[in-house]
Amino acid sequence: MTKILLFGRTGQVGWELQRALGVLGEVVALGSDAAHNPQLWCGDFTNVEGLVQTVYAVQPDVIVNAAAHTAVDKAESEPELARQINAFAPAALAQAAIKIGAWLVHYSTDYVFDGSGAQPWREGDATGPLNVYGQTKLEGEQAVATCPRHLILRTSWVYGARGGNFAKTMLRLGQEREKLSVIADQFGAPTSAELLADVAAHAIRTVLAGPQGAQHAGLYHCVASGETSWHGYAGYVFDQARALGWKLKVAPDAVAAIPTSSYPTPARRPLNSRLDTRALQAAFGLTLPPWQQGVQRMLQEITGEAQKT
Ligand SMILES: NC(=O)c1ccc[n+]([C@@H]2O[C@H](COP(=O)([O-])OP(=O)(O)OC[C@H]3O[C@@H](n4cnc5c(N)ncnc54)[C@H](OP(=O)(O)O)[C@@H]3O)[C@@H](O)[C@H]2O)c1
Repeated sequence: MTKILLFGRTGQVGWELQRALGVLGEVVALGSDAAHNPQLWCGDFTNVEGLVQTVYAVQPDVIVNAAAHTAVDKAESEPELARQINAFAPAALAQAAIKIGAWLVHYSTDYVFDGSGAQPWREGDATGPLNVYGQTKLEGEQAVATCPRHLILRTSWVYGARGGNFAKTMLRLGQEREKLSVIADQFGAPTSAELLADVAAHAIRTVLAGPQGAQHAGLYHCVASGETSWHGYAGYVFDQARALGWKLKVAPDAVAAIPTSSYPTPARRPLNSRLDTRALQAAFGLTLPPWQQGVQRMLQEITGEAQKT
């Protein structure tokens, strides 16, 4: 039976991976603290030696890394910790994966790009991160790529029913405030943790299917189809929430569109986060659904939860 070692089980994507990977074989899912696993296996990315020992003890066919330092602004003031989690730990996993001949599946980000232009980025385009998070994620993907059996999925604007994200923040603010200002000059595709987990499961199944599988190793862009701005995304969330019966204070015409320059943050963010996904769709025979589909589903899910309480 296929054995999969999953890191980052508590995150948005990690949570969905626990569900999606279950049909492929035995999943050992670890978080940053070892409390939940009786073997006391280490899932803490600040403990590289512990991680490597865990890989050797579990002897997985596939390692899936959904753990990351994802606090983009905080990373500016703690670059060493961000580098440890986003680059050094994945590098150690890559070395351990090479030793045992395992596949290593890893997530990266649109923030490896500088955000120039308006064309969707292709996998081979020149990188140029604008912030510590993007730089450390780039170092991480370069380290992971040293493992011949690697799959790296670069994604953007991740959300899930579980965990904090932009859509949920907008819903909270929309209930509290009569007016809001949302950035309208950054473009990308909101992508659900469910979709990312399902794509990973499908890709893993493909690469494990036989000797031909190895030819699919590589770096792929993986986002929902279509594009929007944060302002467009917020507008869609509010429209759908109203239709689902949410009582919002903010009126449809009271969400102002502002430029990034009006909302300074510690980390600079790319304006163009569009990712071209043709390589992924062609390699694995997949169709990536429109971004609205997953957002609507999440809103329905959290509406159901809100009504229960
Ligand atoms: N969120 C986005 O918008 C976005 C966009 C593009 C790419 N990505 C990438 O997608 C992947 C998944 O992101 P996500 O949104 O699911 O992230 P998330 O919800 O923020 O979860 C991050 C995970 O990393 C774990 N983690 C943090 N520090 C750790 C440590 N020292 N040791 C072990 N685990 C640690 C967290 O566990 P604890 O809570 O236990 O610390 C959590 O399980 C990441 O590679 C991220 O870079 C995310």
